[in-house]
Amino acid sequence: MNQQLNIGLFGFGVVGNGLYEVLKQSPATHAVISRICIKNRHKQRSLPPEIFTFTPDDILDDPKINLVVELIDDAETAYLIVKSALEKGKSVVSGNKKMLAAHLPEFIGIQQKLGVGLLYDASACGSIPVIRNLEEYYDTDLLQSVTGILNGSSNYILSKMYNHGVDYAEALYQAQEYGFAESDPVFDVGGLDALYKLVIITVHAFGVYVSPDEVFNFGISKITGQDMQYAREKGRKIKLVGQVMKDPENGLSLFVMPRMVTPDKYIYNVEDEFNGVVIKGAFYDKQFMFGKGAGAYPTGSAVLSDITARGYNYRYEYKKMKQKKGLAFSNNAIVQVYLRYEEEADLNLFNFEIIRERYSSDDFRYVTGLIKLSNLQKIKHDLSDRNIFLAEI
Ligand code: HSE
Repeated sequence: MNQQLNIGLFGFGVVGNGLYEVLKQSPATHAVISRICIKNRHKQRSLPPEIFTFTPDDILDDPKINLVVELIDDAETAYLIVKSALEKGKSVVSGNKKMLAAHLPEFIGIQQKLGVGLLYDASACGSIPVIRNLEEYYDTDLLQSVTGILNGSSNYILSKMYNHGVDYAEALYQAQEYGFAESDPVFDVGGLDALYKLVIITVHAFGVYVSPDEVFNFGISKITGQDMQYAREKGRKIKLVGQVMKDPENGLSLFVMPRMVTPDKYIYNVEDEFNGVVIKGAFYDKQFMFGKGAGAYPTGSAVLSDITARGYNYRYEYKKMKQKKGLAFSNNAIVQVYLRYEEEADLNLFNFEIIRERYSSDDFRYVTGLIKLSNLQKIKHDLSDRNIFLAEI
């Protein structure tokens, strides 16, 4: 049954505004935003003041509000709001990937215990319905990997640099101006946003929860023209890629890092703020989902889709978690990488299995070779201060 939804909205930033507009264009959705809880008392707002409150309990304790939509970017506050709303028996829609990636096991438990519903398709890949598809359509036995461009801002920056020669700082500024980037863009360009999305995707693809702390992530913030030039000379583009893959021994590997992508790959042509997800499986080979991954309206429309789904009482069932297929996460996989570095000491951090190629001139040094994910994971926190760039090849 399509029930009437009275929404209490938390946050009225880029996505909150986008949702408000998208909802206005969607009269068939039996949902109204009754109250909006915001933090900033001084910001000029486009709606009548009586709809706003600064007190979360005005929403959480209002019995007429049966759906909480959480669209704030403070993960800790978002966690408290979502938990409290679920425990009070309200349905919740959230777009907060950092918060979800950290707390999914607890939220899954609460949903199962109390029979409440938490939907978050909007949290991964903006307008692309990747979570619900993985949840409903794909069987774990046949599924082999999910690979994708999961962060619109990084992809926007890389596209502008590669295709238009825009410099990194200007491209990042544009991504912020368009509302693609997080309020702290380090989440985007450091590969964290993609990592959180990958963790969420993995739960619905393979039924395994992996804490973000255990997964190697490296972003694009250190990229230079030399890296772009290297890729160009090899006929490749650099894309920030998140990947989860199953090996024949039921091991599951996850990582986020830039990749030198050849033109025959689906993601080669994914440009600007678009995202692209390649789902690979036995018997059907590859399938590709493509769409806008960031921005007010694409993400607002994904939130709307979650709202509509709650109107029909849709819930994720986490079937794959219940099936217990014996999949085990590990960082044992070996990846082939390009490493551009400045100091020998930086190179020495990396414990390569094999070095395949080595180049050194006055101002450009790189190696390519094979390295275990566990070695990369071990040094992940040492990499952020160094002038190095790493990409899978
Ligand atoms: N900052 C995110 C991105 C927004 O650039 O993809 C959508 O999750």
